Amino acid sequence: MKSKILLVDDDPFTRSLFENLFRNGDIDLTTATNVAQARQAFDVGDFHLVILDQRLPDGNGLDLFAEMRRLRPRQTALMITGHAEVRDAMRAVRDGLFDYLTKPFENLEELEAVIAKALELDRAYREIADLKEILTAGSGDPIIIGHSVAMEKLLAQLRQAAPLDTTVLIEGESGTGKEVMAKMIHTMSARKRGPMKELNCGALSEALAEAALFGYEKGAFTGAVKTTAGYFEEADNGTILLDEIADMSPKLQVSLLRVLQEGTFVRLGSTVQRPSNFRLICATNKPLDQEVAAGRFRSDLYYRINVVPLRVPALRERRDDILPLALFFLDHFNRKFKKSAGPLQADAIASLEACQWTGNVRELKHTIERAVVINTGGPIPCADLGLVCTARATSDTSNTSTQLLPYREARLQFERSYFTNLLQAADGNVSEASRISGVARQNIYGHMERADVVTKS
Ligand SMILES: Nc1ncnc2c1ncn2[C@@H]1O[C@H](COP(=O)(O)OP(=O)(O)OP(=O)(O)O)[C@@H](O)[C@H]1O
Ligand SMILES: [Mg+2]
Repeated sequence: MKSKILLVDDDPFTRSLFENLFRNGDIDLTTATNVAQARQAFDVGDFHLVILDQRLPDGNGLDLFAEMRRLRPRQTALMITGHAEVRDAMRAVRDGLFDYLTKPFENLEELEAVIAKALELDRAYREIADLKEILTAGSGDPIIIGHSVAMEKLLAQLRQAAPLDTTVLIEGESGTGKEVMAKMIHTMSARKRGPMKELNCGALSEALAEAALFGYEKGAFTGAVKTTAGYFEEADNGTILLDEIADMSPKLQVSLLRVLQEGTFVRLGSTVQRPSNFRLICATNKPLDQEVAAGRFRSDLYYRINVVPLRVPALRERRDDILPLALFFLDHFNRKFKKSAGPLQADAIASLEACQWTGNVRELKHTIERAVVINTGGPIPCADLGLVCTARATSDTSNTSTQLLPYREARLQFERSYFTNLLQAADGNVSEASRISGVARQNIYGHMERADVVTKS
């Protein structure tokens, strides 16, 4: 589908520049030369992006933007601005404008990149809106956000394996979503009305884990005050998830192998063989083949459970998922805390996308939760996300060329550090800073605000 853009600008040169820019692409451009025309177009059209000139013959682009946002709160918009008006545009960014473009346009590639990013944001918002409808329809099923090529491939494998009654082994770093995937497999299988039982093998002692899985007869051990069913019994016609399977003790590994081979189990303190029909899903954040090679995991059990392996990629290996996930969590926590934080400002999006996310989706989820909690009802700037993340991404770029930051973010970071150092060197004196840097005095303020340079006043 073509993206629809509304351009509001009275300058014929700018209009023809955009017309040329979009001539061969999949963008459907509508132009308006003043506020009245723009209102008319906006009333009837649903635009993926609105690009507004600030000074219009019959009004101000900023007021028009505010008006549009009242009608469509998630409208993505860019402002075209002259150098003298940068401060107003910056204020508008704080009020939800995606970004601003300064005239004259020196770098068309950069212009195209900003537009592409704004359209990406709009796309993500629309997808989340669709999801919200599914959510309010309320099936309670787990939701997996995954738009990247890597996740689409994985989800295709998952959909294929889910209805078949095979054992699935889910491998992936901590926080990548192994547990949600296991739940998804259960809900997509014929066993979905049956129970799903979960045991974290790393969290319980061997004795407790054994009792939880096998159940026990009254008096089987001290404290066994009444006969209790275990997961093998309770998950009959359902699913068992053995999480952190690599941490299962050697003794339990043997017991589990026997249950898988024979399809029966014996409660602790009993001799009666009981049948159980459960589907097994295992999850691990340690690569199990390495655990086998190191002699910590039985190879015969490994072959039993490694029937359909699913590897969940780390979040940094699928950066296209970051923005949709962030918006999904933003919506989730806004509803949970009854707040209206957002939208994410452009620099916040750039930082999220550049971050290394060693804690994967869970870390991203917590980052957004924190940002919603501290938000007082308005756009989310980069600073509200916690800068540790940006710093980590920056230091990582120094040793790996594959983890380059997006150009805008890199430039912003450079400007931030350059102007901070410059002002320090000039002892806070802007005229002196101008002399040292060769940047005109009036432009230094603009650079500083844009790069969010903090000055001692
Ligand atoms: N693709 C996704 N879409 C939506 N939510 C996700 C996705 N992936 C993970 N989450 C959410 O992120 C959090 C962490 O996911 P989960 O607990 O499944 O990770 P895990 O791989 O099991 O981690 P660990 O190895 O630490 O147990 C959960 O709250 C989960 O709902
Ligand atoms: Mg888990």
